[in-house]
Amino acid sequence: MTVARAPAKVIVTGEHFVVHGQPALAAAVNLYSTVAVESGSPGTVEISSSELGIDASFQTGAIDEKNLEGPERSILEPLMLVVERTLERAGSKGLGLRLQVKSQIPVGVGLGSSASTAVSTAAAVAHLLGLQLDKGMICELASVQEQYIHGKPSGIDATTTTYGGVVLFRIGQSPNHLQPAEEVRIIIGNTGTARSTGDLVSKVSHRVQLGDRDLVRISDSAGQLTLQAADAYKNKDFQQLGRLMDENHELLRQIGVSTPQLDRLVKAARDAGALGAKLTGAGGGGCMIALSRPADDKSISKAIDAAGGRSYIVAIDRLGVRID
Ligand code: PMV
Repeated sequence: MTVARAPAKVIVTGEHFVVHGQPALAAAVNLYSTVAVESGSPGTVEISSSELGIDASFQTGAIDEKNLEGPERSILEPLMLVVERTLERAGSKGLGLRLQVKSQIPVGVGLGSSASTAVSTAAAVAHLLGLQLDKGMICELASVQEQYIHGKPSGIDATTTTYGGVVLFRIGQSPNHLQPAEEVRIIIGNTGTARSTGDLVSKVSHRVQLGDRDLVRISDSAGQLTLQAADAYKNKDFQQLGRLMDENHELLRQIGVSTPQLDRLVKAARDAGALGAKLTGAGGGGCMIALSRPADDKSISKAIDAAGGRSYIVAIDRLGVRID
């Protein structure tokens, strides 16, 4: 049996705008998906996960999209595609596999749960089959899943969860890895409202396609802001980074992807002393993040909980995907 693990991610600045060519800053965090894989009956792939609510088996090459509903359709099928791609890459199409997926990452709330499970699946299957894949190849295999879930992914989720650490990302460029800082904490606040990344990305993309001038202007500002945020992070100027995160939240509000619930958690975190706070991921519900000095993390976390969120004080994961 082979077991692979991959972290969750948060987007520090630049979500949505990254889909349209702007840079974004993201960090891998220490909540994990784990995939254990072993050989199974030839031609059959079994996938089960109590956390994700899936338990199914398929003949390889015979996934029928129309027969899948609910969580099976949104979670299982993309994973099947990742398994199939990896089997193909290994030249082992007819093999059988049994996969057990576990995850600490809440689903559908902007923490990269689907990218993380796709990346750990690709890594585990490749390792079991003796396929030597570098991280770039694992990320590429896992990306099939993100494309399936929301037609136009930037690739930031799969990249961050594959490589770990803090990543300055831009479509079409090699990711720029920044040295993780020990001096600040990230606190996640989950509103508990799941939403569809695909729907939110389409809503914003539609406005870009219509040539919406405001959106283009906001997108350019967000791109500049991310470059400043990366500099602030490198220079350990966390006050400035916090201010830029606040500004980024405002830009995301202007494009209509925040919600009253997210705004409430963001305000609670700022009032409790956060250096900055913003929604993270596609918005429309899901999660926010706060940047904090280590001494303030517990009071900020309590304030988020008191405002109706579920908080997690997280640390940067430096390794990305790994075989356990
Ligand atoms: O899936 P989420 O909610 O983490 O969103 C990912 C970030 C987006 O910029 C909204 C989409 C993308 O592919 O970059």
